[in-house]
Amino acid sequence: MTVELGVFAPGRLEILRRLLSDPSLAPEFEALQGPQGLERVLADPFSGPELRWLAFRDGEPAGFCWAFVIPTREGSFAMLRPGVVARARRTGIGSRLIETASAAVRELAPQCRELCLTAWVPSPEAAGFAARHGYEHARFYWLMERPQHGSAPQVDWPPGVEVETFDGTERALGHWSEAYNRSFAEHYHGALSTPESVRALAAVPGFRPDGVLLAHRTGACVGFCQNQLLPGRGEVATLGVVPEARGIGLGRALLRWGVGWLEHQAAPRVTLTVDGENEGALSLYRSEGFETVRKREIWSRRLP
Ligand SMILES: CC(C)(COP(=O)(O)OP(=O)(O)OC[C@H]1O[C@@H](n2cnc3c(N)ncnc32)[C@H](O)[C@@H]1OP(=O)(O)O)[C@@H](O)C(=O)NCCC(=O)NCCS
Repeated sequence: MTVELGVFAPGRLEILRRLLSDPSLAPEFEALQGPQGLERVLADPFSGPELRWLAFRDGEPAGFCWAFVIPTREGSFAMLRPGVVARARRTGIGSRLIETASAAVRELAPQCRELCLTAWVPSPEAAGFAARHGYEHARFYWLMERPQHGSAPQVDWPPGVEVETFDGTERALGHWSEAYNRSFAEHYHGALSTPESVRALAAVPGFRPDGVLLAHRTGACVGFCQNQLLPGRGEVATLGVVPEARGIGLGRALLRWGVGWLEHQAAPRVTLTVDGENEGALSLYRSEGFETVRKREIWSRRLP
């Protein structure tokens, strides 16, 4: 058996698309199914062509891995996303892929302090694989869904708050980026955003400017909600309120706006993903009728 690793050259995108839709990989990579799924990974501001690999076994496509390197206040962390088709598993291909990815992250992002793996659980193969490579449990993220579909609640904006949809201007990029950073400053793996990273996010295929709402109070951006249409579901993808505007009902109003927008787009299900230890967000989501339907585990390994 020969195993070769190659890069995701543009001419090989169809190979990757076929691997992603293989029945043994599609459930884990469900959010990347459909016509623009792969394009979203390729356009991600925190990844790049030097952080993506394909694996071939005896010349046949067998797996892939890409890495995101995400800056936070405590230094960067890298999320590795390997996948190996069922027929080629337990032959060391997944290990080759993440070892190659880890070496590239160390070389290209020497400031990176942590490597992570993730999978929907239960997944004995992902858990066994993570343990075998010295990764330990770090967190659960919960996928929550609002079963009362078709009954978007009324939105009541707190007094003094004005809202506008994202218009792509420099002002909006700056406001969104700053509100994001201030909202997630204390959070686990809170990414550090910049106007440039937000501009790149807004250029990702399928991004809907009208699905982003910015909330202002006395001229400052104090909250935001970004929605995303995924295959088979619509997601309230990020929602944040800056510390000084918490406790006045703005998070609830933004969430309700997000649910209403997604229902208006005829999303068949309305979901969101939340850090399972973010008690404040969890109680808001539960009180708005969201229920946990799936869990995603994060495993982590420190880098020296
Ligand atoms: C997880 C995954 C990438 C592993 O790929 P792979 O090529 O089979 O991995 P390897 O052959 O390099 O396995 C290395 C070690 O991981 C552990 N491992 C892998 N699969 C396992 C399983 N089903 N149960 C328990 N341990 C397992 C073993 O220790 C294995 O070594 P061994 O075969 O000598 O016992 C693959 O199963 C996969 O693509 N799963 C679906 C996608 C996914 O979950 N991706 C996220 C991964 S964190």
